[in-house]
Amino acid sequence: MPIRMLTLEDLDLDGKRVFMRVDINTPIHPETGQLMEQERLKEAAMTIQDLPKSRVIVASHQGRVGRSDYTSLEAHSRALGEILGRKVGFVPDVFGPAALSEMDSLGDGEVLMLDNLRFTAEENQEYKPADAEKTFLVKRLKEHVDACVLDAFSTAHRSSPTIVGFAGLVPTCAGRTVGRELRMLDRIASVEKGPYVTVLGGAKVNDRLEAIDALIANNRADKVLLCGLVGLVFLKAAGKLRGDVGIEGEQKYVLKARQLMDEDPDRFALPTDVAVRGDGGRKEVDASALTAQAQVLDIGSKTIDRYSRYIKGAGTVFMSGPPGAFEWDEFSRGTEGLLRAMASSLGTTIISGGHLSTALHKYGIREEIDHISTAGGALVQFLAGKRLPLIDALERAADKWGKKAE
Ligand code: 3PG
Repeated sequence: MPIRMLTLEDLDLDGKRVFMRVDINTPIHPETGQLMEQERLKEAAMTIQDLPKSRVIVASHQGRVGRSDYTSLEAHSRALGEILGRKVGFVPDVFGPAALSEMDSLGDGEVLMLDNLRFTAEENQEYKPADAEKTFLVKRLKEHVDACVLDAFSTAHRSSPTIVGFAGLVPTCAGRTVGRELRMLDRIASVEKGPYVTVLGGAKVNDRLEAIDALIANNRADKVLLCGLVGLVFLKAAGKLRGDVGIEGEQKYVLKARQLMDEDPDRFALPTDVAVRGDGGRKEVDASALTAQAQVLDIGSKTIDRYSRYIKGAGTVFMSGPPGAFEWDEFSRGTEGLLRAMASSLGTTIISGGHLSTALHKYGIREEIDHISTAGGALVQFLAGKRLPLIDALERAADKWGKKAE
């Protein structure tokens, strides 16, 4: 069913102060504090480029309270400026006097980035739209903006004030990222078919377990191929890993994995071999021979072959999170192998998350994948058929501020 939403072409945004809610939440190197990728920044830049005469106020969250990636957006503003090839101002404030005065003094064609929206208490909460409109965050900002562009597809599953609070108050439309994602997903929905194979890797165990629940509930995961940290959690739950994985909340995750495997053991495939760091670099060992001290950095060759066969036999393949630490060449074999299997698959292929998008770039096979999304949790929710608060907001805005149906 097509989504009703306004686009940049439907609103007159020249000379207007445009509050542009993007998602440039980026992995941050825990030691150097540097941004580890730029995919989401590049997407945000595409929308800004299409607003050459507007006064653009870029707003995003970064990380979660208490985590090491919960930082200021100053480095993001510099990186965005480099991508755009023009100045992006930065104000270390969100809705205080400094931010509001900078917003008011913006000239046509200028871009300003506010600081991390999650530095404000309200942005860390989820609200119904009518309540979001009453937050101090939205009430204050809206007096200083003329329109809103929602472009944070990867935060579409969060009903935080800046996602759902503006649509009823100022003319609001979708940015290019949201438009591209929805167009591609709509196209995919018309051709995709089973069997559905899901490959889950990376370090975000909680997110991957939530993804499994949502995808199974919507019949979107006939086979789940596990790798990365979540693979280790399942190995431990299956009694094949001695020692601990070494992550916070491990016990809870292991119990959840156990429950999932008990309910339907055939649905899940676990690594049979993995790669660790040995004396001469990469060393492959049987998963059952792992010791607690070994740091697993990739899946092994037998697992790559077995998973590749599942991928090639799939009607639709969805992959979220890399199988290994592909930044190091000796541990990129799993990520490259499975991505190449996807690239040569005749089924519909969908890649989720900035890390995998960067990896596809590295291997030069982006063109072979049907849809590459920088979204993680939001994409899973969408594929699982859930209603997303950001899309609801765009539909409300289309009803209130325009008529065009996409
Ligand atoms: C993401 O990276 O999935 C989005 O930026 C949402 O972040 P969150 O899971 O911390 O809300």
